[in-house]
Amino acid sequence: MSKQTLKVSKIKDGTVIDHITRGHALDVVKLLGINGHLGGVVTIAMNVPSGKIGVKDVIKVEGRELVSEEVDRIALIAPHATINIIRSFKVTGKQRVKLPTVICGTVKCSNPSCISNSEREPVKPIFYVEKEEPLRLRCHYCGHIMEKEDILKQF
Ligand code: CTP
Ligand code: ZN
Repeated sequence: MSKQTLKVSKIKDGTVIDHITRGHALDVVKLLGINGHLGGVVTIAMNVPSGKIGVKDVIKVEGRELVSEEVDRIALIAPHATINIIRSFKVTGKQRVKLPTVICGTVKCSNPSCISNSEREPVKPIFYVEKEEPLRLRCHYCGHIMEKEDILKQF
């Protein structure tokens, strides 16, 4: 094992979000609602050398297994991330996040006059993924374009 991999220790139980595009760890933390006021140990590692993608960011969330809705949210910001579920120090689950071509319900349209924001006849927001990185979503109803920053404001 190289010295680099020893810098951040293994965890006993929880989730390791690996292969996050460098520079995006804090966005993922925000998206997951991690603020340090609640929950267990969270370790954030940035610019970790990685054989596969040069450098990467890694987040280790102890004592918590992410649910699929959270995994889908991560795909918006870190489309190449791997989610590892750790139990008793072993990787018991490994999953690549996947950005669907259509996003339903997770993101709100930031155009105030969009029908998806109307109070009387609310419809579920629907977006088409026009581009993965940098992220570009197009609203099904009004055509409004949403970028990463617009999405992060909602979390
Ligand atoms: N990990 C951890 N604690 C453990 C086990 C694993 O923090 N008890 C971390 C590792 O440091 C790594 C990630 O979880 O960042 C995935 O572990 P593993 O599958 O063993 O590593 P790789 O084979 O390198 O994963 P991949 O093939 O996805 O790159
Ligand atoms: Zn809209």
